[in-house]
Amino acid sequence: MANRMSEFTHDPVMADEIIAHLITNKNGNYIDLTAGLGGHLKAFSKHLNQQAKLYGVDKDSKAVSIAKENLQACHQKKYLYVAPYAAIDSLVEQFDDTEFDGVLLDLGISSMQIDDAERGFSFSKDGPLDMRFDEQSTETASDIINRKSEAELADIFFKYGEERQGRKIAKAIVIGRQKEMIQTTSQLTVIINQVIKPPYQTKSAARIFQALRIAVNHELEQLESVLPKIVTILKTGGRIAVLSYHSLEDRIVKRFFQKLQKGCTCPDNIIVCICGNEPQLKIITKKPELPSDSEIERNSRARSAKLRVAEKI
Ligand SMILES: C[S@@+](CC[C@H](N)C(=O)[O-])C[C@H]1O[C@@H](n2cnc3c(N)ncnc32)[C@H](O)[C@@H]1O
Repeated sequence: MANRMSEFTHDPVMADEIIAHLITNKNGNYIDLTAGLGGHLKAFSKHLNQQAKLYGVDKDSKAVSIAKENLQACHQKKYLYVAPYAAIDSLVEQFDDTEFDGVLLDLGISSMQIDDAERGFSFSKDGPLDMRFDEQSTETASDIINRKSEAELADIFFKYGEERQGRKIAKAIVIGRQKEMIQTTSQLTVIINQVIKPPYQTKSAARIFQALRIAVNHELEQLESVLPKIVTILKTGGRIAVLSYHSLEDRIVKRFFQKLQKGCTCPDNIIVCICGNEPQLKIITKKPELPSDSEIERNSRARSAKLRVAEKI
């Protein structure tokens, strides 16, 4: 098991920038709701005193086992849980602490998940068409591909992958699955390549795989649901940092921060506020921060990252 675990690493994205914004109290409590292999938590540990506490949550039980190993040498108290982050409101009831100085959401996928062909996240590796972060959940990418109607597939590809050729690809999938079930990443890639001509095949495959992953894991619904819950578990002056990797996620985070910074939700033509909603957040990053050129050179997976940070007021 130890050998298998040590095969996997994940270089934490924009760790320096996140630490600079998130760590405001060296004795504080910090939580990565997408703990993965614990890369960010380990980086936080180096900037915290021994009294500080590190919490991690991830849906992927394998990732949590590896994070436990990776964090063993950190001198703070550590608490790691296998759970969906949208359950944070009920999960905190089991914690020693119910309020945090900093909360991180590092959305998307870890290097371990994408590099493991058996998880089915990568169109460049042959494996089962799975894509579940949580291997206990029931619906796989193959279930979606083989069971949804042509219109539903086209909708998923357009909504979650912003793929303009989604209708064509959905039609080819429905024809293809009449001959045999589509159960592997390469079967799906072959179908995409039949209808999309070079040099667009790789980009289309990337968009279709992204769309399926988002659908399988209900990623956007999870994100919409967790953001207000995070605000309730932040201390006043505590900070939330979100790293997103595509525009769909970033838009949700940006709008949420703006809405809570504004507070009032009255229509523009109302002169005196009647809703009574007070501002709850102050945006720290006016524009999203991006990884440095040297980080992208070192870790190409950081290239699409955008970091937004806000403070609870
Ligand atoms: C980009 S990785 C995080 C890497 C981590 N910050 C590190 O430094 O090692 C994203 C992680 O979020 C997890 N994840 C995705 N959706 C989740 C959800 N709804 N609830 C909990 N974990 C989730 C994935 O399993 C994956 O391990």
